[in-house]
Formats: sequence, C-alpha cells, structure tokens
Amino acid sequence: MAKLTIIGTGYVGLTTGLALAKHKNKVTFLDVDQNKIDMLRNGKAPFFEEGISEAISNYEQFTTYTVDKDVYNDSDIFFVAVPTPEKEDGSSELKYVNAVLDDISKYRVNKDKFLLIIKSTVPVGTNKKIQDLLNSKDLNGEVASNPEFLSQGTALWDSLNPHRIIFGVQTKWAKDILESLFASFGSPMIVMNLESAELVKYASNAFQALKISFINEMANISESTGANIGDVAAGMSYDPVIGNKFLRSGIGYGGSCFPKDTKSLAKQAKNAGVNSFITDAIIKTNESQVLRLSTEVLKYEGRVGILGLTFKPGTDDTRETPAHYIIKELNKNGIVPIVYDPKGQDMYKRMFEDDRVIFAKDARDVIASSDNILLVTEWQEFKDLKEKDFEDKKVFDGRRIYDFAFYQIGRGYKA
Ligand code: UGA
Repeated sequence: MAKLTIIGTGYVGLTTGLALAKHKNKVTFLDVDQNKIDMLRNGKAPFFEEGISEAISNYEQFTTYTVDKDVYNDSDIFFVAVPTPEKEDGSSELKYVNAVLDDISKYRVNKDKFLLIIKSTVPVGTNKKIQDLLNSKDLNGEVASNPEFLSQGTALWDSLNPHRIIFGVQTKWAKDILESLFASFGSPMIVMNLESAELVKYASNAFQALKISFINEMANISESTGANIGDVAAGMSYDPVIGNKFLRSGIGYGGSCFPKDTKSLAKQAKNAGVNSFITDAIIKTNESQVLRLSTEVLKYEGRVGILGLTFKPGTDDTRETPAHYIIKELNKNGIVPIVYDPKGQDMYKRMFEDDRVIFAKDARDVIASSDNILLVTEWQEFKDLKEKDFEDKKVFDGRRIYDFAFYQIGRGYKA
C-alpha cells in the first residue's frame, strides 16, 4: 500500500485516484477549488459520470479530500492532473503545472526525493520542460509520464480496467515505483522514454479519430451511390485487421480530446518540420462532417428542433460538441432551434452564451414545437422514441438510430 497525492479532481485525477484507492492505496486529493472539495467530502461527484458517487463512498476509508497544501509533505508520489490547455501556437499552457511547482517549493519542507507523474495530455517534449522547471527551482523531484486513456461516460471503468498502462520514465527508480503501484491492476504495463509516452497518447487518439473520419467519408459516398453505411461497416468489421470499433458513422467527433489532440498533433508535426497529411485530412473531414445535418435541414422550410447537445451520451459535457456548430449554422440562417438534452443543457448555456436557442423541457416538447427534428446525440431516451412519437415530422438522424428517418447519415433520404 502506497501513500500518494492526486493534484486536480477532474475526470482524470478523480478516476485515477479512486482506482488507486480501490487497490488499497492511501490517496489524498488536492484541489484549489473549495467547492469541489466540499462536494467530494459529501460524497458527491463534481461532474456527471456513471458510478463515480458510489465509488467515492465505497473507497472512503482510503481517500482524503483537501485544499490544504501542507499535504505536499505527506507523500513522495504526486499525480498531476491539472489542465494543460492548448495555447494559440499549439504548445501547452503550463501555468497550472507551474503553480503546482510553485506550491511544492513553498510548502514542501520534506527534502526527500519525489516522483511527479504527469497524467495530462501534453505535446511531446513538455515533460522534459517540466523536469527543467523542477531543476531550476532546485526541487528534488523527477518527472514521469503516465498518459490517461479513459473515455467520458465510462471513465471509472476505464481507469479500473485499462487496456494498457504506459510509463514514460527517465530512471529505473521511477519505473519501479510506477510498476509497483499498478501491478495489481493486471493490465499490460509498457515502459518507454518520456517523449514516446507523450506521443502514444496523441497517436492513439488520432488513430481513433482517423477511423471515425474514414467511416464518415464512406458514409457520404454511400449516400450518393445507393450503398448503406451500416451494411458497409458491418461487412468491414469482420476483418480482424479492421475490427468493429469506431466504425459508427455520424456527425463527426467532438469532446475535449479528439478535436484538440488532432489539431495539436498537426501543429507539433509542423513545428518539427514533418508533413502531417493524414492528421490534416482527419481534421478537415470532421470539420465538414459536423455540418452535414445543418446542410440538409436548411434545404427545407420550417421550425427546427434538436435532440441532444452533448458530444456523446453518458456525459453532461458539451465541449467541442457538433451541436454548437450546427446551431451556429442555423442561427446564421435566421433559425432559432428549440433544443433538449437530458444532461447537457446547463453546460451548453454556460459555454455558448451567444448561441440563440430555446430550451425545451423534454423531447416531446421539441417534437411538438418543430417541423424538422435533428437527432444529434444518441441518448437512450431518444433511442426509445418510436416513429409515431414524431407525429409525421421530418426527422434528420445524425446518429443512425431511426430506420424511419426522413434523412439519415450514410443512407440519405428515405426512398
Ligand atoms: C476519447 C478516446 O476514446 C479515449 O480513448 C481517450 O482516452 C479520450 O478521448 C481522451 O483523450 O481522454 P472521449 O472523448 O471520452 O474519449 O469519447 P469517445 O467515445 O472516443 O467519442 C468521441 C467522439 O467521437 C464523440 O463525439 C462520438 O460521438 C464520436 N464517435 C465515436 C463517432 O462518431 N463514431 C464512433 O464510432 C465513435
């Protein structure tokens, strides 16, 4: 059993810490946000994610939540899961990491060597820069990289059952600590240098995004040639080289990861003087795919309703959601849609104040108040709707859940 501190209680920090607590490590969560810490102390998750509240109470005896920075003296293992947003030039904004280092130099009187494990997704070379910062502040710490591969909606399960655990290390000392922390997870552990670990994360996300953009391109070809993308994807999926994952065509990928990471990877390639033809094409294809539904619905007169605002079901997250690009396009054409999402309305309101929409109280409200209905997020409650629930309105299905739709991605218009 190890003692460790997780800095940052977002998706990555909280689920990583809870997974380590499940494996009977003593985990202290440190956050600058008193509000979040109060919620966690009361057994509440600061974001919507299946199973998190239960895990908070299940592993209670192994966890502590605090804003008290003296905890920097209580352990020698730190996981950094603070935001590292993208700057204009594609590099990472390291001000939050820097603030952590400032706090360590201010509060840590314990002079023992510590391991600073970076979980956040950062451009290749960033962990070295963090090591240089540590050295310049005369801090007795060593940086390691341990990228995270969880998906929102299944974040806790993914943290508990990782397909692989990647360690980017500089010394055997760091490798031994990380391997002993994660050995009981039973997942493959792969050790490499800092730069490779950083690139594994970008390469994995870009490859998944590539599958989505590729199948969306095939969906568009299907629509114009009489093929049906559902059958095409099913036919492809039996080839073990291709597999059956991430072949769901739709209105493009969104979220806090794929859009940001693919763009960052393209920038990193350019900075390194390397071509990024494939990554550029993934991005371009997606930018055009998110507008497929708005392009089609704008061909028809009438009021527009939208079902779903989040970038996928199972989360309240609306970061980089295709819904925003669709709504912007409708607004540009003088249309103010009526919208409903079971979890994402609050975040949408906060994030996209300039978007003009009318919020509905449920799906029925949307259907009753519109002529043309766009299915944007495949929430189960929308999947449960039947043809008769749509009262003969025109349905534009962006996620291929309604066979009866007037228009469907990858099939086109109903014959
Ligand atoms: C993604 C990756 O799946 C994780 O492996 C990765 O660890 C994570 O980013 C991250 O970098 O932290 P996430 O953004 O939570 O996870 O969501 P996904 O389930 O990958 O979906 C992303 C987008 O792609 C969604 O908008 C979804 O609707 C779309 N998608 C996904 C498709 O259009 N078709 C598919 O077949 C799969």
